[in-house]
Amino acid sequence: MNCFPVPNLALGTSGNSSMRLTRKLCAALVVIVPLSLLCFHIFTKPSSVVNVWNREAPKDLLDPSVFQPSEKLSHIPFKWKEDVLQLLPKNSCKCEAEATLNVPFRQELFGKPYAVEFASSIDESQLDETKKRREQEYKKYNIRYHNPTDRLIIAKANSPLQYPTQGVEVHPLKTIIIPGLSLQDFLKKVYKVTLSATMGTFNTAAEVEGVTIKGAGERRITLSSPNLDNLNRQLQFISYTNTIFNPNTADIVKFQTDEHSATFNIKIRHPRVPKLYDSGSSNSKYNISSLVTIATKTFLRYDKLQNLIDSIRKYYPTVTIIIADDSEKPQKVEGPFIEQYIMPYGKGWFAGRNLAISQVTTKYFLWVDDDFIFSPRTKIEKLVDILEKTTLDLVGGAVREITGYYTTYRQMISVFPGGKEGDCLMTRQGYHHAIEGFPNCVVTDGVVNFFLARTEKALQVGFDPRLSRIGHLEFFVDGLGILHIGSCDDVIVDHASKIHLPWSKTETDKEYAKFRYPKSSDNSQNVNHILFYFKNRFKCMTGN
Ligand SMILES: *[C@@H]1O[C@H](CO)[C@@H](O)[C@H](O)[C@H]1NC(C)=O
Repeated sequence: MNCFPVPNLALGTSGNSSMRLTRKLCAALVVIVPLSLLCFHIFTKPSSVVNVWNREAPKDLLDPSVFQPSEKLSHIPFKWKEDVLQLLPKNSCKCEAEATLNVPFRQELFGKPYAVEFASSIDESQLDETKKRREQEYKKYNIRYHNPTDRLIIAKANSPLQYPTQGVEVHPLKTIIIPGLSLQDFLKKVYKVTLSATMGTFNTAAEVEGVTIKGAGERRITLSSPNLDNLNRQLQFISYTNTIFNPNTADIVKFQTDEHSATFNIKIRHPRVPKLYDSGSSNSKYNISSLVTIATKTFLRYDKLQNLIDSIRKYYPTVTIIIADDSEKPQKVEGPFIEQYIMPYGKGWFAGRNLAISQVTTKYFLWVDDDFIFSPRTKIEKLVDILEKTTLDLVGGAVREITGYYTTYRQMISVFPGGKEGDCLMTRQGYHHAIEGFPNCVVTDGVVNFFLARTEKALQVGFDPRLSRIGHLEFFVDGLGILHIGSCDDVIVDHASKIHLPWSKTETDKEYAKFRYPKSSDNSQNVNHILFYFKNRFKCMTGN
């Protein structure tokens, strides 16, 4: 028996001795693991509280300081090259209609060139406020999306070559200056460097005296000079133009002297177009009606749904409620701020969730089941607060059963490589970290069916409509690596009792149960497994 998959390779070649060793190791592990887990628990507690807002802000890539010479190089004369300078991004774009030739039928044939300013669509008295709100949202958005691999890092000349190791980025078919290039070589008669690329060309934005350039405008450019300082000044003006349109890739650039060679990449990608939500100005801290939509899916249980709506209205009279309904004979659900979407009969659980969230126009939506009941403990403000102040995308609350027991259903999800047969999915109850500043909240991978999510991010993941009858974990598995998830146990919603005495069940209850809790002979579970197998390429799953 193996207590751990200890690779034999690491233990020597003889099968027998490795077996004995494995056994000893097992025995040792049986003693050490619980002990070390205990220590781990005791000693790592404080450091396990993390700040989930602590990412550095992205830097402006159009920073003009790339041209700033060091003191040593400041005396070297150079001449700007207008044709290359014009290609560089300037952070001062304008929309102007192009001048057109006055040929007959031009407009009919080609359409009329136009330019529109969007600010003019905003009420003038609101413009300043709106602009401020937009910048605020944009700043938070940038911090959420910023990735440490986007940061510019320059490798100082440990070898004689200095170059950027990461953080150089060009928009498709556009031009940039490559920052940080330099040579720190020993005394030589002639200093020579070469840059070569495969998806673009090099040029110089300015010409420096005493430097010879070969291959300007080509994929391989060579610079040489008897004077190292002049060469280094010239290297500050090297531009790169992407010539092959293939976004979300990178050009691997080689930077070489005769003896040394370095490689770095230039990311080729479109600017990320943000999706921001204007939640209006508000005197109160969070205006829940303008920030949050409550979304649910119902099937047959109109009595339960009405109880949910009544309970929501006690605390949030004007928040919009979206209901996706795939009942066979749908009943109209009436009331202010209610949108009911009727779907084809029995379309299913995830299809309904998908439809409901596709109609959300607020920054966040709160997912609830149709048999939940709001209480004074159901404080949406608390969930909004943590999403506003951290980089989390989704945060779950707690669901309280009639017995008083409540659950947050926190799960950690891991995927292990499994070769040709597919990978292994593992779920464990629990969480990764506590969250600084939010003592009731933790970071985890999956939560209960009661959560507040960023609409934009949840739409990126979507609810797979193929999961018609049962599904929960599937959404979080699809969201792994996309959603940053938290869970707070101090925002609690009540669950209408699931416990029914058989003789008190109504016809609706019975029919609902037939759909929602299918017998094992039903193939619903099988559908989920087939999707795990094919769509997610898993071979198996373990959980606790
Ligand atoms: C909250 O938002 C709603 C909907 O956008 C709006 O009608 C209401 O006036 C706002 N309330 C406050 C106090 O700002």
